[in-house]
Amino acid sequence: MAKAGSNLNLDGQGNPVWLLLELTYRCPLKCAFCSNPTDLAAHPDELTTAEWKSVIRDARDMGAMQIGFSGGEPTLRKDLEELVAEANALGYYTNLITSGIGLTRKRLEDLKQAGLRHIQLGFQSSNPETAHWLAGVDCYDKKLRIAREIKDLGFPMVLNVPISSLNIHQVPEIIALAADIGVEYLELANVQYYNWALVNRDQLMPTREALAMAEAQVADARKQLGDRMTIFFVIPDYYEGRPKACMNGWGSIHLTIAPDGMVLPCSQARTLPGLHFPNVRDHDLGWIWHQSESFNRYRGDDWMKEPCRSCTEKEHDFGGCRCQAMLLTGDAANADPACSKSPHHHLVREAVARAGATRQDHRMLIARDAGWHPTEG
Ligand code: FES
Repeated sequence: MAKAGSNLNLDGQGNPVWLLLELTYRCPLKCAFCSNPTDLAAHPDELTTAEWKSVIRDARDMGAMQIGFSGGEPTLRKDLEELVAEANALGYYTNLITSGIGLTRKRLEDLKQAGLRHIQLGFQSSNPETAHWLAGVDCYDKKLRIAREIKDLGFPMVLNVPISSLNIHQVPEIIALAADIGVEYLELANVQYYNWALVNRDQLMPTREALAMAEAQVADARKQLGDRMTIFFVIPDYYEGRPKACMNGWGSIHLTIAPDGMVLPCSQARTLPGLHFPNVRDHDLGWIWHQSESFNRYRGDDWMKEPCRSCTEKEHDFGGCRCQAMLLTGDAANADPACSKSPHHHLVREAVARAGATRQDHRMLIARDAGWHPTEG
């Protein structure tokens, strides 16, 4: 069972609600803001179809209601339709999180037939050239074609556009493009600085002025578009002074299964040193969720140091993001340095200060592999 007193589970039952299957780390894109592990080659051993189905059933038995098929690029798995059908038959609300590369009209029809309910399509830019720089491959036309096919087939869709210094000036054009496609939701998702995005942080982080302008442009667009489209625009936590309530708390409602079967409280957590994350090949999912040391480590507030321990906001933000605390301070039990109360907040302030000083130029991005040479962009 979860630790006594560790009752910050938002569903009130201590069960996972949201199951995210990272079916593969493989991806045809090489995005400079990618949140995949930087050592992809170290995790080659993907679960089989039968193993994924077993995970889907076990999580449903535990109470999970929503399932996301993600990656990498999940459409690279030939059994995607079969897994969606399994989840749909069990009563999950099914969601595909995709770059669109690998989708065709036929596959979309098959996925619809299998019971897929919702699609989140990643998009880099309203400009083909910028999209090419950011994704590392020429993908704009293909993505646009698939976006229109998705709408033509009647899927509800979120267009997810990671926002950075390299495309923040395109916000009005991105909104116009999303409206033209007919999406219901546009998520202007300011890049979170993990893995490849952290490597490229100085080049990717927009300035405060650029953020303020984009925010005003979003407000204008909301007035003009009314109910036609919902636009989400969240200021990056580096600029907020308060941390995000990451994952609604560690081990609270989110359950992520990595391609090799490792079970994680969040997609980024596998890089945290000092934690051994169990694998569905070795342990029952219920035991992992309720009993494993790694899932219990940051539940509740026993683990917190000051200033979190005595903070009046701890039940709202849970001390912020454990992964960000680890990446920036070297200790996941520290307060997230995005919080202005953190003794490490200067690390965030310094990164923000560098955002304006570094030339915002795609040629300075560090490529994800030797196959993409940024200077050729
Ligand atoms: Fe892992 Fe925030 S990304 S806890």
